[in-house]
Amino acid sequence: MNDIIEAVNRAAADAEMKAAAAADAGALEALRIEYLGRNGLFPELSKKMGSVPPEERKATGSAFNTGRTRIQNALDEAMARLGGAGAKADKDAIDLTLPGRKAAPGHRHPITQLADECVSVFRRMGFVAVDGPEIEDIYHNFDALNTPDDHPSRDPKDTFYFPDGRILRSQTSPVQIRVMETHEPPVRIVAPGRVFRRDTPDATHGMNFHQIEGLYIDKGVSMADLKSVLQNFAWEMFGKDVNIRLRPHFFPFTEPSVEYDFSCVVCGGKGCNVCKNSGYIEIAGAGMVDPNVLKNVGYDPEVWSGYAFGLGLERLAMLRYRIPDLRFLYDNDIRFLEQF
Ligand code: DAH
Repeated sequence: MNDIIEAVNRAAADAEMKAAAAADAGALEALRIEYLGRNGLFPELSKKMGSVPPEERKATGSAFNTGRTRIQNALDEAMARLGGAGAKADKDAIDLTLPGRKAAPGHRHPITQLADECVSVFRRMGFVAVDGPEIEDIYHNFDALNTPDDHPSRDPKDTFYFPDGRILRSQTSPVQIRVMETHEPPVRIVAPGRVFRRDTPDATHGMNFHQIEGLYIDKGVSMADLKSVLQNFAWEMFGKDVNIRLRPHFFPFTEPSVEYDFSCVVCGGKGCNVCKNSGYIEIAGAGMVDPNVLKNVGYDPEVWSGYAFGLGLERLAMLRYRIPDLRFLYDNDIRFLEQF
């Protein structure tokens, strides 16, 4: 036993006695302040902890705890004895006047919110939202989409293969095939979903990300229809000042194919570091559905034509919310996610 333990025990015993003798709630509060208050005896004594030899620290610490509890109990008992105002009620009673504990419900992930928003924009333009499997077969992900056998995206270095030969879909485009296989034209669908690629994660790449696929098949569909839908989508998402630009490109499942860009929503097209001074930001691929794809699903390309597009949701989110690194979206840091 050291001096501090002794002092603590003595203080506790003193306080107990004084509490038992206290005449009113005011006297009890004065006692509380004297012993446990911020500048009271206990905090004063605990400053001496530093001088206690290590082997006595534990015992000293527990003497403090016991002392504090003894004093608090003595005060509580005295308060109960005095009854009336300020007395501590039965420990089990529920105080109905206390404000409730606030439940903290979560909310949907920003990418889910954005996907829903895109879907509702396309829905207003007549599209129906559909779903497809994340585990796909080679036929739907590549073959039926007219992808040549030597196309680099088939390489196991780029796409995740299961031992049985199935894959994690590398794009949402296979949903086009699944819908056309099971529905007669006309079809007008969008398919939001997760896709997987063997990319090394960095600020703009992840091993999985999200796309929205679009497909419209009808009689006499033209590239002008595609352009107007994409332009409308840009306006709905970023306001009337946004322009779009189509650039020739190649995709196996569309002919002709384009990539489509938004005029930079940060600088308004003047050129800045976000758009790398080009004034435009790439958003998606698109094109007129290749007749081979239509044949693969049993549609007659002489009768039916259409367009397809696929856009990257993370890219859109980064622009929309000015997120500099898409990994923020997947770190599950509540301080980040809470903002949406
Ligand atoms: N599937 C393409 C990709 O992941 C994007 C794409 C391009 C989808 C053109 C389409 C399209 O439907 O017509 O890069």
